[in-house]
Amino acid sequence: MSLGLDGYLIVRSFDEFICIFDNIRNGLAIVGAIYTTSAVIKLLKRIIYITRVYAIPKLLYSSDLSLKYGGKWAVVTGASEGIGRSYARKLAQRKLNVLLICKNTDKLLLVAEEISLDYNVQTKCISMELVNLSEDSFYSFVENTLNEIDVGILVNNVGTNDINLFACHGRKPHQQLIDINIKSIVLLTHMVLPQMIKRKAGAIVNIFSLMSNLPFPYLTLYFASKAFIDSFSKLLQIENACHNIYIQSLQPGFKCSLPLQNSRLSRFFVVDPDTYCESAINTLGTTHSTHGYWKYGAMEYLNEFFDVF
Ligand SMILES: NC(=O)c1ccc[n+]([C@@H]2O[C@H](COP(=O)([O-])OP(=O)(O)OC[C@H]3O[C@@H](n4cnc5c(N)ncnc54)[C@H](OP(=O)(O)O)[C@@H]3O)[C@@H](O)[C@H]2O)c1
Repeated sequence: MSLGLDGYLIVRSFDEFICIFDNIRNGLAIVGAIYTTSAVIKLLKRIIYITRVYAIPKLLYSSDLSLKYGGKWAVVTGASEGIGRSYARKLAQRKLNVLLICKNTDKLLLVAEEISLDYNVQTKCISMELVNLSEDSFYSFVENTLNEIDVGILVNNVGTNDINLFACHGRKPHQQLIDINIKSIVLLTHMVLPQMIKRKAGAIVNIFSLMSNLPFPYLTLYFASKAFIDSFSKLLQIENACHNIYIQSLQPGFKCSLPLQNSRLSRFFVVDPDTYCESAINTLGTTHSTHGYWKYGAMEYLNEFFDVF
């Protein structure tokens, strides 16, 4: 083989051509082998993670969480419905008293009564709209109640969304979303942390969303607020690890209340809130960031693998 005057590669014989072809084939085989090995390693790591986070804690199930995080009370926001209600019920089942926070007093009292009857634990309720929070009124209203109880676990679950084109929507709905999805979480966390630091124990679970990593227009502020929660949790964990405070960001996917319920795809991927929260509570202490249920983890893995979004 030699280089001609015009710069083209001249193949002198058929043997040389075969030789070049073999070299290219071998090169491609090496690239293929490296890619396959890295994909297999990634898959194995994911299987080990799922086993460590979802399967092993299920085997080591502890029916009493009241002492694990140094306080007998759990505080759950947005506790009247959905994930918040189920999370509160599952914590009560694990022998924690619960303080429930949400807007609608009737629904709140109903859930509180249901929980104390079903699980024989104490309940307290704070019914308040988590918007327009001037710090002083919010602090005085909630802080006194929080200071009366030893909070082992705070679950910042409350969240709202608003489908709109960001630029065309009013200022008030944007402000309300920021109050509910960001400000309430920052303020409550700030109120609870001092007693946890003093006791050198406690857990804070901040709920964001499986889809906050994906591009979803028309829910811009919602997903941006959820991304804030993830970042807030990770940095808070670093600051408070020395005080033995455990912080987890939990990212659920679709739940059963969504209208996808009857499609075949949703029957596989949609998890009802009770099943979801049972699994999510089992992951406490195992990882600082989780989907809470193995199917949501699998969903994200498939998305990454096939590069759907
Ligand atoms: N559902 C999903 O598929 C999904 C997926 C990913 C992430 N998430 C996240 O998971 C969390 C729970 O979602 P969910 O669907 O279970 O919620 P949900 O069923 O819509 O319940 C929302 C809760 O928040 C309370 N709330 C709403 N606005 C409030 C306000 N202004 N002041 C006080 N409380 C207020 C509601 O109380 P009232 O009953 O008093 O209004 C209710 O208890 C949210 O942070 C959400 O973003 C959910």
